[in-house]
Order: sequence, then structure tokens, then C-alpha cells
Amino acid sequence: MDYQFSKDFLWGAASSGPQSEGSFPGDQKAEMEWDYWFKQAPELFYEGVGPSVASDFYHKYKEYAGLMKEIGMNSYRTSIQWSRLIKDCEGTVNPEGAAFYNAVIDELLSRGIEPILCLHHFDLPMYWVEKGGFENWETVEAFAAYAAQCFALFGDRVKRWITFNEPIVITEGGYLYQNHYPAVCDAKRAALVSYHLQLASSLAVKAFKKSGRDGQIGIVLNLTPTYCREPENEADKKSAETADLLFNKSFLDPSIKGEYPKALVELLKEEGICPETREEDLEVIRINTVDFLGVNYYHPRRVTRRSTPYTGPLMPEKYFEEYTYEGQKMNFSRGWEIYEPAIYEIAIHLRDNYGNIPWYISENGMGVQDEERFIGADGTVEDDYRIEFIRDHLIWLHKAIEEGCSCFGYHLWAPFDCWSWKNAYKNRYGMIRVDIKDHCRLSIKKSGRWFRETAGRGGFNKF
Ligand code: BG6
Repeated sequence: MDYQFSKDFLWGAASSGPQSEGSFPGDQKAEMEWDYWFKQAPELFYEGVGPSVASDFYHKYKEYAGLMKEIGMNSYRTSIQWSRLIKDCEGTVNPEGAAFYNAVIDELLSRGIEPILCLHHFDLPMYWVEKGGFENWETVEAFAAYAAQCFALFGDRVKRWITFNEPIVITEGGYLYQNHYPAVCDAKRAALVSYHLQLASSLAVKAFKKSGRDGQIGIVLNLTPTYCREPENEADKKSAETADLLFNKSFLDPSIKGEYPKALVELLKEEGICPETREEDLEVIRINTVDFLGVNYYHPRRVTRRSTPYTGPLMPEKYFEEYTYEGQKMNFSRGWEIYEPAIYEIAIHLRDNYGNIPWYISENGMGVQDEERFIGADGTVEDDYRIEFIRDHLIWLHKAIEEGCSCFGYHLWAPFDCWSWKNAYKNRYGMIRVDIKDHCRLSIKKSGRWFRETAGRGGFNKF
């Protein structure tokens, strides 16, 4: 086999609770921020589709698990919805929620699929949003208590946990670029939320150790390798370094090394937005580093020095401008560049600068609009572009592993089409098609068949 991966390699895919489950009468789920935002402003969501049904994983989880097995997955990451498991600020457990997650875990295990559970995927319950969300220290403590509850309820069977999915996106989406709730632009609040998210993550790691459960706990970060246009130009280089500091190192360093990069702290201080810290909290971060890392990789960031003076509210763009790389390969549906070698560069960076921590690709994928265009005569979505996308990334990953990088798996986003926040069902990511106009009818795409064969053989040959 030209590209052979190890026997215990994770072949799987990821989704999340809010993007797959839906919420239904009688399920006792509390409202979370996306339910609320959709109710307030449905026009912001593609074709007015909100999270209420999503992919109906809540009712169809057995069928989903069966198909996931059929496409060769040996592991599946999803997230527990805090708002489904816990009813209120007092931490009251919703028995329906607990029963649902127990059933999902058992179903996956019975089919030989390892459940990897994430504790937060952009979905803060409204009872905490109303108290200031992650700007409020109480939310941080409540998150740690909720995490401890999850370890107690499900830790006998779940062996890999994730504290947060893409915490930087919570910050940038909600407090800078306004594509997540509360959709404000305020760098000082953003910095505080980031710091509190890190603390919440570190406290969850602490709670996991205290729980005495077997297993490991990690964090999922979306890493965007940053390339500048003119690497020999000092100002250009600096623009890339600053973007890297803000978007990558701000969670990578405290989560893995237990401390913030000095340059980041200095920058925040210069801007007058550095949160106040307590020595005992920094100690929590120092001690409670993660066991492993999940890397979500979709696209690189290409920056150059500013050509015009920056005006407007404080934003990361004060320090750089993004530019389009001539000849870049694009996924036009999502507007993201496709650049496979970056996956190799991430791996080498983790090997050389982060102690070669064990990690896996926790998301990588290609969202395509109007996939109906590719339905063939027998009704299958012929998504050759997705097969090519996965294969080309795996080739670079394989090279990195050959060079000693500790990557233990590859998860595609997503096993099945799921609800994508404001983009709703515009772009389809799954290896399993979900026909949302026909009671979420499921069918395996061509990529699902290819994945089954690849995972089954633990690799693939050159074409
Ligand atoms: C990741 C998120 O950033 O990208 C997912 O963890 C998300 O929740 C995925 O759905 C794809 O991005 P989008 O914006 O197209 O849904």
C-alpha cells in the first residue's frame, strides 16, 4: 500500500449536538444561544432554516450509527449539548437528556464506533448567556461543574473527551466579526472571553483528573497556518507572526504549554485590553494542560503588511491585511482556499515546537452547495471532489507521520450533512446525504463508499 496508516489509526468523522440533534417537544432541552438568535432574527439564516430539526439525530441516531458503521468509521466525535443535559443555572440534570446521551454512547459502542465527546460546540445555554455568558466568571465555574457531571454520567464508557471546539471562533464570531451571538464588536470583551474560555477548559481538565476516570482529555483548535506574501520583508513577516499569535497561539500555548506567549500578553497590554489575571488562575492553566490535541484544518491564512493606516474599532486586521494568493485552489461554495501542504506544516510545527503532543485531525472537509447537481442515475451523490479532497490531505498527513509526527487519526467534517449555523444547509459536508425536504432521508454518497474501502484497508494506493 502506498499510503498505509497504523492499525489503531482513527478513521472517522465529526459533527456536533447543536448541528445534528434538533430539539423536540418533551425532550426538556433548555434554550441555547442559536435557538434564541434564530427566533430573534430568522432572516440571518440561509433560507430561514434554524436548528430546531437539524439532521434529526435525536430520533434517528440508531440509523445514523448503522450508516456510520457501514462507511467504515471506527470513531465519531459529537458534542453534548449543555442545554440538553443541564436544565438551569443550578445544574439540575435533565433525565431525558442523560438518557439520550447514554443511548447514543451505547449504540455507538455496540457497533464498534468509539464515541469522542466534546463538551461545548458554540452552544451556550441561554440561562448562562443571560448572565453575561463567558464574560462572567460564574459561567466558567458552571462549565467546570457541567464537565464533572458529564464525566460522572458517561465516563465509564467514554475514553476521549474534548473540552471546547474552536474556542477562538466563539471569541471572534461573537465579539469581533459578529457571525455568532451576541454579535458585537468589542476587542476588550473578546480578550476577556478568550481568557475565560481557556480557564474553563483548564478547569475541565482539572475536573477530569479529579474524577479518577480512565481516559484522556483534549481540546480542539482550528489551526490556520499563516503565510505572508513577502517572507523576506520584515513588516510582512511581522504581520503573519501577529496573526498567528492572535488566532493560533492564543489557545495553543496555554492549552499545551500551560502559559501564554509573552508577545501576546504585551500586545494586549499595549492595546489596553489585557484581562486582569489572578495568580491562582494562571496556576490552574499551568498545571492542567491537555493530554492530546484535535486539529481542525480547513484553510490557511494569507496575510501581508497593511498598505493603508487602520481605522475603525480595534480588530486583528489592525496588524495585517489578508490577500489572495495568485493561482490558489478554492472551494468556491465556502470561499475557502484549499491548500493541502498546510496539514504537513501543522504536523511538523506540533512535532518541533509543542513536544510532539499526540494529536489527530478532528475536522477537515469540504462544504459544497447544491449537491443535488451531482446525483447520478441511481440516486447516489457522486462527490468525487470530496474523495479527492480527503485523499490529497491524507497524502500530506501520511508524509508527516512518516517523519515522526504523532498524529493518531483523521476525522472528516462531517459523517452526514448537518446544520451549519448561519449557513444552515447551504453547504453539504457529509459522506451521508440528508434530504431535509424528505424527513431527513439518509443515503450514502460515493465518498462514503470510498471511505469504507480506505478505512478497511488502512490506507490507499497512488492513482
Ligand atoms: C468548523 C466547526 O469550524 O467548521 C463546525 O467546528 C462547522 O461547527 C465547520 O460546521 C464548517 O464550517 P461552516 O461554517 O461551513 O459550517
